[in-house]
Amino acid sequence: MDAREGSGRAGDRGGMRVCVVGASGKLGRYMVRHALDRGYEVVAVCRERSVGKLAEFADRITVVPGATDDREVIRRAVAGCDGVLTVLVPWGMRGYSSGTAQAVLDHAPPGARLVFSCGWHITRDGKDRYTLGLRAFVKAFGLIARLSRVADIDDQVEACRRIFASDTRWTVVRGSDLEEGESQGLPVWSRHVGDPVLASNRTRRVDFALFMVEALTDDRLVHEAPAIVGRLTPSARAHARPE
Ligand SMILES: NC(=O)c1ccc[n+]([C@@H]2O[C@H](COP(=O)([O-])OP(=O)(O)OC[C@H]3O[C@@H](n4cnc5c(N)ncnc54)[C@H](OP(=O)(O)O)[C@@H]3O)[C@@H](O)[C@H]2O)c1
Repeated sequence: MDAREGSGRAGDRGGMRVCVVGASGKLGRYMVRHALDRGYEVVAVCRERSVGKLAEFADRITVVPGATDDREVIRRAVAGCDGVLTVLVPWGMRGYSSGTAQAVLDHAPPGARLVFSCGWHITRDGKDRYTLGLRAFVKAFGLIARLSRVADIDDQVEACRRIFASDTRWTVVRGSDLEEGESQGLPVWSRHVGDPVLASNRTRRVDFALFMVEALTDDRLVHEAPAIVGRLTPSARAHARPE
């Protein structure tokens, strides 16, 4: 098992300029809030039709409207950013996820911290051990989504393949099943799905966002693909070891 708690913060937390790509979704809005709470300057990218979903932050953030796989939109949004938080979603059949990831990888300033979200179904080294239930769910969901042309999970896999192969300062945060609710604090993580600490398979969405934002300043997470779980879940309580 390789279960981690806490965060080894590096660098100065104030004065950071952070871009949130996919800011108008549920995860994105939590990330915007956490970033503002830390005093970061926030640039948000979201579809034009969704700008209104960021109204509560309107006077505190800069919004760059547009598709997240539009390279020109991303180029403008990430300019001068110290960190980029990207919600990877595989909508449609035209490479939305891989296009978004590629645009961020290509245009983020050299040395910027790049943190991407995805689910446990993504594997970095093939050593994750999935339950039959999770495998069946991913297969069924993937098939239905592809047949209905709503989403292409394989494209999220391709996006992550490109990130893993890149020499940027990336982290891919792999979320468990999510739920809403008050924060329980920073989730714990492990390198491999199947490790006992992750067995509860449940994280509050607000805490997924917290982990993403904390990863910006945690250099131990550079070139890691942490699979996360809520810190108050039974498996985390039983197996996480404090650092
Ligand atoms: N849902 C889960 O249980 C779960 C579990 C594990 C990991 N994750 C990961 O968590 C992250 C956030 O997922 P979420 O399910 O919680 O969703 P979310 O935060 O609500 O984000 C959904 C995103 O997709 C965008 N979107 C929706 N429909 C779209 C379309 N047709 N074309 C382009 N963009 C579209 C939304 O933009 P608008 O605001 O413009 O609609 C929003 O940015 C993802 O990386 C996902 O892989 C989710």
